[in-house]
Amino acid sequence: MAGNGLRKEHAGNVRKRVLLIIGGGIAAYKSLELIRLFRQQAIAVQCVVTPAGQEFVTPLSVAGLSGERVFTELLSLTDEAEMGHIELSRSADLLVVAPATADLLAKMAAGLAGDLASTLLLATDKKILAAPAMNLRMWLHPATRRNVDILRQDGVVFTGPNEGEMACGEFGPGRMAEPAEILAAANSLLETDTQLPLPAAAGRPLSGKKVVITSGPTHEPIDPVRYIANRSSGAQGHAIAHAAAVAGASVTLISGPVAIADPAGVNVVNVETATQMLDAVTNAMPADIFVSAAAVADWRIAAVSPQKVKKSGQQAPELELVENPDILKTIATRKKSRPCLVVGFAAETFDLIKNAKQKLTGKKCDLVVANDVSTEYGVMGGEQNSVHLITKGGVDSWPLMAKSEVAVRLVDVLATMLREKDDGMS
Ligand code: CTP
Repeated sequence: MAGNGLRKEHAGNVRKRVLLIIGGGIAAYKSLELIRLFRQQAIAVQCVVTPAGQEFVTPLSVAGLSGERVFTELLSLTDEAEMGHIELSRSADLLVVAPATADLLAKMAAGLAGDLASTLLLATDKKILAAPAMNLRMWLHPATRRNVDILRQDGVVFTGPNEGEMACGEFGPGRMAEPAEILAAANSLLETDTQLPLPAAAGRPLSGKKVVITSGPTHEPIDPVRYIANRSSGAQGHAIAHAAAVAGASVTLISGPVAIADPAGVNVVNVETATQMLDAVTNAMPADIFVSAAAVADWRIAAVSPQKVKKSGQQAPELELVENPDILKTIATRKKSRPCLVVGFAAETFDLIKNAKQKLTGKKCDLVVANDVSTEYGVMGGEQNSVHLITKGGVDSWPLMAKSEVAVRLVDVLATMLREKDDGMS
């Protein structure tokens, strides 16, 4: 422990408190600047420096900049009468891990708690923001990719890493986000409620319920090698499936072709085309909730060529398109056993709310999740989403947040709506 006696009572203008965990990486020096930026914005920073982190920055300089006691060891902390590790991990509004090394991410993903940093990250009841920094091969390694996927599904928010030349001389993704970027990401989280419910106490509000979700794009073949597709990554739909499973639902996820992992605890049915997706959804009925998050292709090729279409000596081929079935509308207008809640998405590039309201009534949904998918917002294929929830009752606009966070909150809303409907019927 360093900086004893440095813990100052902050002036009354402290807006928020952050617990900053500084891992062992060359980027640790940037965390010193981050502390300065936090304090400039009246955000108090309590720091933990891992043993590896101490090879790059000294607890003394961290204590000097933060104006607070710096913690380095689990045992000295648990012996400490003043503040235990549980209190340390919960007294902040947000945990920030910067640099988040491959080792720290692996410990977090595995739920290890053998040292101070990992114990705090496991014991916290607040959101976690991670700013990874590592060699690009370590970042791209399947083990790190897996760990990052798990952490995202667990609700950890990532900022960076950025691309660029690395301290080791290689070029690529792995540089820690700049302090100003980490500050902006932290501020955007601090604008939301950063308190996480106790997983067991939060209950399983969808326990005993069946949820069917579509996700990803559809591929509509032109010939054996070509197809029409769209930019949907499936990230939002898959995150909803995971959140619904965590909430206790029995979940069937009907996914178009995606490059992301299947969520745990979910029954996944893989399809390619809109027609196959409709068949799979129909087979999965009845359900209590249907969420149509897939970016279903509106059209397919009227006559798919059994052979590869050749270009030699011909004009560009004319592709005749026919409209695909509207899966959402088909399910929402089922005469028999319509799901109690039918949720559509409205991916728009203009007149977002107006178009989404039209989809709500036109497709007979109970709720439409509208998002702006103009390329400048990077929603399609990106990690964050800014959504508006549209019901007959009005529009609820949520701030920009991680897709995993959107998923958890949406599942919460659906559980409440379902309960209200159930109560109304009894
Ligand atoms: N949808 C569907 N089947 C289709 C087309 C769309 O189930 N053939 C669903 C999507 O999953 C989404 C909602 O309908 O929940 C709206 O999709 P979107 O692509 O935004 O709208 P479209 O109805 O295709 O209309 P447009 O492309 O003209 O905006």
